[in-house]
Order: sequence, then structure tokens, then C-alpha cells
Amino acid sequence: MRKAETIAALLQEARNALRDADIELSALDARLLLQAASALTHEQVIAEPNMVLPADKISRFKSFIDRRLQHEPVTRVLGVREFYGRLFQVSPAVLDPRADTETIIELTLQRMGQEPMRILDLGTGSGAIAITLLAERPNWSGIAADLSSDALEIAKANSTALGVTSRLAFHNGTWFDGISEKFDLIVSNPPYIPHSDIFVLSLEVQNFDPHLALNGGGDGLEAYRAIAAGSAKYLNSKGLVILEIGAGQGADVTQIFINQGFELTEQKSDLGGHVRALAFKLTHL
Ligand SMILES: C[S@@+](CC[C@H](N)C(=O)[O-])C[C@H]1O[C@@H](n2cnc3c(N)ncnc32)[C@H](O)[C@@H]1O
Repeated sequence: MRKAETIAALLQEARNALRDADIELSALDARLLLQAASALTHEQVIAEPNMVLPADKISRFKSFIDRRLQHEPVTRVLGVREFYGRLFQVSPAVLDPRADTETIIELTLQRMGQEPMRILDLGTGSGAIAITLLAERPNWSGIAADLSSDALEIAKANSTALGVTSRLAFHNGTWFDGISEKFDLIVSNPPYIPHSDIFVLSLEVQNFDPHLALNGGGDGLEAYRAIAAGSAKYLNSKGLVILEIGAGQGADVTQIFINQGFELTEQKSDLGGHVRALAFKLTHL
């Protein structure tokens, strides 16, 4: 038996390689990738350090580690990400849903109550927001829209896997283009990174999240201007627009919505203390 083939030796070798490549959570990442490659649980990996894996599982693990060494996030190597307690498939066409985006879910569920609602999710990506809201509220239905048809294919697969497909339609277009009804809730986590900032983000983000999902134009606010300009026409009179924003964008995004006849009704911070979600209503109410 070659020592390098035991679980403990494989993990140590991978941890060292990841650490040498400045990958922060090297021990955690190595373990998660080993579990996935070997189909073993966390407990089995801990309890059986001297277990020798079959050659195909070792080579799968090594190929996972090679991808992580290129700064591909673990979620992308595995093709799945947990969001608000549910597993979502991810692909190169979709933003890897972030924990920060759960702030929008929390604000929406707190604000909107239990009544039946029609919702529109603009820039749905993996479908994380629309699907989670419909899964949490069995009497809600709506439309998940995106400019990327490849992203919509992933959102459709997630909606089927998570059992909301009969209540969620999909629309391919730019923002409100081709949408013809009014909604109780318009929700969006649009691209909000100023274009030139994309190239100083971590390699995990700049090389693996689609730039269509990141690029908010020169000042990061272009998508908010488009959404603010269209929202009054597509919102029921008592409806809300709930948006994710980037750190420090609150005042600018609020002004953009005030200019289009809205007022800020609520905001919610993420776990890092940044205001992350804003809720707007029409001011004439
Ligand atoms: C930041 S990602 C959010 C994805 C997902 N909602 C989430 O929170 O994980 C922004 C999404 O907006 C989409 N997008 C970018 N420009 C768009 C446009 N002009 N019209 C519609 N969707 C757009 C991107 O394809 C991407 O899926």
C-alpha cells in the first residue's frame, strides 16, 4: 500500500498544495472535495484516516484539487450550492448564489405576509430568489426573467428539482422587455459591480462568475436605473420592489428610485453589517 493513497495522506497533500496557492480555507476545501470525490460522509472521513480509496476516486479527487488550484470555487467544482437551506444546481452561465442574497429573502418574507402574490424576479440566474420565495410561500407564483437563456435553463432545472415548476414561468429578455402584466412584488439582485472593479475581485469571482451577472456598468448602477425606470408600470399599486445592493450603494440606489416616484420603506443589513436589501413602494400611496 502506498502511503499517499490513504485518506489522511491525500488530504494532507491537498491541503498543503491549496495553502501554497494562497487558497484560504484549504483544509475545509480539501475535505469537501474528498467527500464529494469518494462519496464518503464527513464522519467516515474523520473516522477512517487509513482507508485506501479506489483508483478512480483518487483520480477524481486529484482532478477536483487541480481545478481548485486554478481558483475554481468548490461550489462550481461540485456544481451545487446551498441557498436558504436548499440545493441549487450551478453552471458557468449563472452567478454562484451568495449567502448575502438570503437577506432579500428574509426581508421579502417579513414584509409580504402570507397572502397569494404574483412575483417577478429580474435577473434570476440560477433561480435562487424566485424559487426560494415560491418554495417558502406555496400560494405565490410568478415569472423568473433573465437576459441569458443558458441561465434560464439552469433556473428551470432548479425549479423542477425543487418542486415549484407549476407556479413559475420563465422569460428571456432584457429587464421588463416582453413582460405584459403587473406584479405584487418585483425582486432583483442585478449586476452591481462597477465595470473596472471586476478585475480586482478575487480570481474565484472574476474568472468563474459570468461577467453578465457582475457588470453594473461604469458606476455599478446601470441595472438599477433600468429597473427603476420600468418598475412603476409593472407594479400593482400596493406592490413592493425589493432589491439587493452592493456595499455602500444605498444612497445612490434610493435616489434613483425616488427620481422614478418611489420611496424607501425598509432596508436590511447582511451578516457583515452592510445594508444589502432595500424595499421601495410607489409614493402616491
Ligand atoms: C447578480 S446576478 C443574480 C442572479 C440570481 N438572481 C442570484 O441572486 O443569485 C444578475 C443576473 O442578471 C442577469 N442580467 C444581466 N443583465 C440583464 C438584463 N439586461 N436583463 C435581464 N437580466 C440581466 C444576469 O444574467 C444574471 O443572471
